[in-house]
Amino acid sequence: MNQPVMGGVAPLNAPAYIKQQKLINWVAEIAALTKPDRIYWCDGSQEEYDRLCAEMVAAGTMKKLNQEKRPNSYLACSDPTDVARVEDRTFICSTTKEQAGPTNNWMDPAEMRATLHPLFDGCMTGRTMYVVPFSMGPLGSPIAHIGVELSDSPYVAVNMRTMTRMGKAVYDVLGTDGEFVPCVHTVGAPLKAGQQDVAWPCNSTKYIVHYPETREIWSFGSGYGGNALLGKKCFALRIASNMGFQDAQNGGAGWLAEHMLILGVESPEGKKHYVAAAFPSACGKTNFAMLIPPGTFNGWKITTIGDDIAWIKPGADGKLYAINPEAGYFGVAPGTNEKTNYNCMASLRENTIFTNVALTDDGDVWWEGLSKPAPSHLIDWQGKDWTPESTGKAAHPNARFTVPATQNPVIDAAWDDPAGVPISAFIFGGRRSTTVPLVTEARNWVEGVYMAATMGSETTAAAAGQMGVVRRDPFAMLPFIGYNMSDYFQHWLDLGKKVEKIEGATLPKIFCVNWFRTDEQGHFVWPGFGDNMRVLKWMLERIEGEAGGVENIFGTTPRFGDIHWDGMPFSPEEFETITSIDKDAWREELKLHEELFTKLAYRLPAELTAVKAELEKRLAR
Ligand code: OXD
Ligand code: MN
Repeated sequence: MNQPVMGGVAPLNAPAYIKQQKLINWVAEIAALTKPDRIYWCDGSQEEYDRLCAEMVAAGTMKKLNQEKRPNSYLACSDPTDVARVEDRTFICSTTKEQAGPTNNWMDPAEMRATLHPLFDGCMTGRTMYVVPFSMGPLGSPIAHIGVELSDSPYVAVNMRTMTRMGKAVYDVLGTDGEFVPCVHTVGAPLKAGQQDVAWPCNSTKYIVHYPETREIWSFGSGYGGNALLGKKCFALRIASNMGFQDAQNGGAGWLAEHMLILGVESPEGKKHYVAAAFPSACGKTNFAMLIPPGTFNGWKITTIGDDIAWIKPGADGKLYAINPEAGYFGVAPGTNEKTNYNCMASLRENTIFTNVALTDDGDVWWEGLSKPAPSHLIDWQGKDWTPESTGKAAHPNARFTVPATQNPVIDAAWDDPAGVPISAFIFGGRRSTTVPLVTEARNWVEGVYMAATMGSETTAAAAGQMGVVRRDPFAMLPFIGYNMSDYFQHWLDLGKKVEKIEGATLPKIFCVNWFRTDEQGHFVWPGFGDNMRVLKWMLERIEGEAGGVENIFGTTPRFGDIHWDGMPFSPEEFETITSIDKDAWREELKLHEELFTKLAYRLPAELTAVKAELEKRLAR
């Protein structure tokens, strides 16, 4: 590593294999602003990963877990004030407020730059600036895009290696003039000469800022998850959704960056479909993506392409092709166990970074829901002794694991295919204890877009703030859309129209699901997890034109007899509890759709207002 140059400008020492002067100049410019003591160019090697982890163990940021029980794995515990995405500190700084739309925080870009400049000036003093080159999507794929993150957090550097295709090979794709999204990240905790560092440096002031016009990301003050691993929510969703929209605005076909898992499902006859499913954060996307069909589904196979994000582009054949831009899973640990997600637990056996889970006395990890009873003694995520009598949780509810996708035992053979996989259906699901039935198929693309646009969900611990309140979360993209939500709805409608015109095209079917309806005692009625396969099978049969259903006010739903129940004791009465439509509740629900549409009135597509009027008419009957 380079020698520190206190108070001066750290030597750049760009490796000779980097051929792009624009990139080197940008790194020099950011170094001149942020004033790190050292600049380190990540090559993405295993040796580098091991070394950075060892340095963090020495610094107290991470603990190495028991090598026998959890080989090459670590536990990091964050500052208790830095545990989730900070949506109220996240900004889309497009030229005009209308371009960001009413669902995003906005500040004039010049004003934001003026606000951030003094914060970033000298923010890396006493630290190393890591240069992290990464590809979102398979290297060189026509659907992939490149980013470079400059960060003063070694935790970010190692997590980015797992979560993206990170390393030297990215520079070959970039060449002398390839495009990249510049991402600047700092924990916002400069060190004075001789000042002792803390285990998890961060700042109580936080800014997660996107400039869509120049495709830049600037993140200040947090070291956690989506606030800091800028390839994920900031690039792969906020900036990328804007890129896909701009592509259409500039006469291209347009594309989609969505908060969706992608899974493959194969029938015993070898018929295979890929589906993409959007759920709000911490609603079981990783579980659905790795689902194990119940025992009575002999010969059915589920395989994973991705667990959180999909980039989707129309192909010349009128199909929509999707890739997972990520290379790892940054999943919520609490609630995960051998029963809820066996494949996930198998993925976590080694090479995993855990954040904010509890430490067992034998150097392994534990979280709520992992095993019963809880161990008699733990060190909780804040480093304190914990016993089952303790009042607080041992693991933070938003505790996470970072694990390479390749460790998933059911990874799909095409997960790394640069061409992507064709999507047969989109599924949208919120967390709703009432009102929304188990599954509904939209009659057409426009009704499907309406369902997705008006989705509501009870909030979870993935974001800082109040939990459990219902908020509208269109397409599960509320915190992640990088432009005006109404324009986004229009973009979906337009893409559908464009694709429909291609000879031989069939648009994916759109379904809306709700696994979370409760009975009068507040208990979930639907078992979820592997049994979601029963709903998936019905959807596939609908795609194949094989399954029956009944039309209701909103679309088509299965009758009790349309679902495969073998091996699951579930009565028609229970089915009724989670599929019934309470007209009064729906009249109230439509008032909330109205509220959303009023908020989004500027440029709201008239087709969606028309669907709503039609629903109101049917409800009045
Ligand atoms: C995530 C989230 O981390 O949605 O995936 O918050
Ligand atoms: Mn997510």
